[in-house]
Amino acid sequence: MKILIVGSGGREHVIAWKIAQSSRVDKIYCAPGNAGIASVAECVPIGAMEFDRLADFAEEKKIDLTVVGMDDPLVGGIVDVFEARGLRIFGPDKKAAILEGSKAFSKDLMKKYGIPTAQYETFHSPEEVRSALKRAKYPVVLKADGLALGKGVLICQNEKEGLDAVQELMVDRKFGASGDTVVMEEFLTGREVSVLTFTDGKTYRVMSSAQDHKRAEDGDRGLNTGGMGTFSPSPFYTPEIDQWCRAHVFQKTVDAMRAEGRTFRGVIFYGLMLTPDGPRVLEFNARFGDPEAQVVLPRMKNDIVDVFEACIDGTLDQMDLQFADNAAVCVVLASGGYPVSYRKGYPIQGLDAFPGNDGTYCFHAGTAFDSEGRIVTNGGRVLDVVALGDNLKAARAKAYEAVKRISFRDQYMRTDIGHAIDEA
Ligand code: AMP
Ligand code: GLY
Repeated sequence: MKILIVGSGGREHVIAWKIAQSSRVDKIYCAPGNAGIASVAECVPIGAMEFDRLADFAEEKKIDLTVVGMDDPLVGGIVDVFEARGLRIFGPDKKAAILEGSKAFSKDLMKKYGIPTAQYETFHSPEEVRSALKRAKYPVVLKADGLALGKGVLICQNEKEGLDAVQELMVDRKFGASGDTVVMEEFLTGREVSVLTFTDGKTYRVMSSAQDHKRAEDGDRGLNTGGMGTFSPSPFYTPEIDQWCRAHVFQKTVDAMRAEGRTFRGVIFYGLMLTPDGPRVLEFNARFGDPEAQVVLPRMKNDIVDVFEACIDGTLDQMDLQFADNAAVCVVLASGGYPVSYRKGYPIQGLDAFPGNDGTYCFHAGTAFDSEGRIVTNGGRVLDVVALGDNLKAARAKAYEAVKRISFRDQYMRTDIGHAIDEA
């Protein structure tokens, strides 16, 4: 088979790496890819939002299956463009990807179908939010309706912070049209867990759980980022909680989408808060998490191409998804200054020190080749160093040993990824 992957980050690198292990695959392309993905796939310089050019490429190269890693092209309708041209593609179509693309849609869906989530109200004008802020119980959470790189969620401790958030989202339109509609939510407390599932529109299979670290600095301080590190499994996501979520969240969501005429085929990622009153859905994503995929996929035993095909063909009920009884930790190496401003183009040393056979991996999140063919930094998140271990503590120790093999200018990481493991 020939496979095309769409995207250019660490998530797409681990997807490419996992696909490369399939005995059914002869050739992998990635558009646009990065310098690390180039070691497992041929990178082609087509942007992830250039749907017609991507479909032309898939036709010309006789691609058997396209896999979309990123949210933007899914929400933008890449799957519809491919399917209209008879091209096989893994991921939800535009009607289904709205599950991630609109928070107002996803909240209304949860309310209608009784899927547990925070109390909320939806607003379409700054005046409405301002008046609601007067009677709100603080803290309160304001969320831009649309995609905002994970940064459109503002936790407000008082009315003044709420008014500032309204200014940022709705008046200054920091995230463009994404902030024209705003969801105001009750603030929940508890531990967060990411649960990734595959679905074929009728049934679902749960991947192993993971926990992300969204804040930039140690101790969960600093600004929100795309994710500074992950571990899998989460010891807090117990078998009892898993059973509860299967009964009250996962099947209900799949059925709700089908009932709405928005059958979802692909990955549904549940961002859950384990509150004292039970799990609540914080958000849905229509794709693998980044950097959750980097700790979940290396632990998956199945041929991932079989799973993708079962989701497309509606045969997931016949599939037994299996995970190794081990653990993984991912430490993100970022550029100093991320997520605000940072420099790019610095050469990276030590990449050869990951032979791929010692249970450590270095997936590339933001790298490129410079004019001399050297691999250089090319993003806020640069590398994802992943280690497998018999348990979480062993994986964490191994990951922090492995990061020492890498060096580049302005290198920055959190030193406490997996701190919650010690409280388990
Ligand atoms: P979201 O993109 O909706 O997952 O929100 C990003 C982050 O904001 C989450 O990972 C949580 O840490 C936090 N968050 C979102 N909604 C709430 C809520 N209702 N209560 C507390 N924290 C929240
Ligand atoms: N790591 C969170 C996300 O992928 O949205």
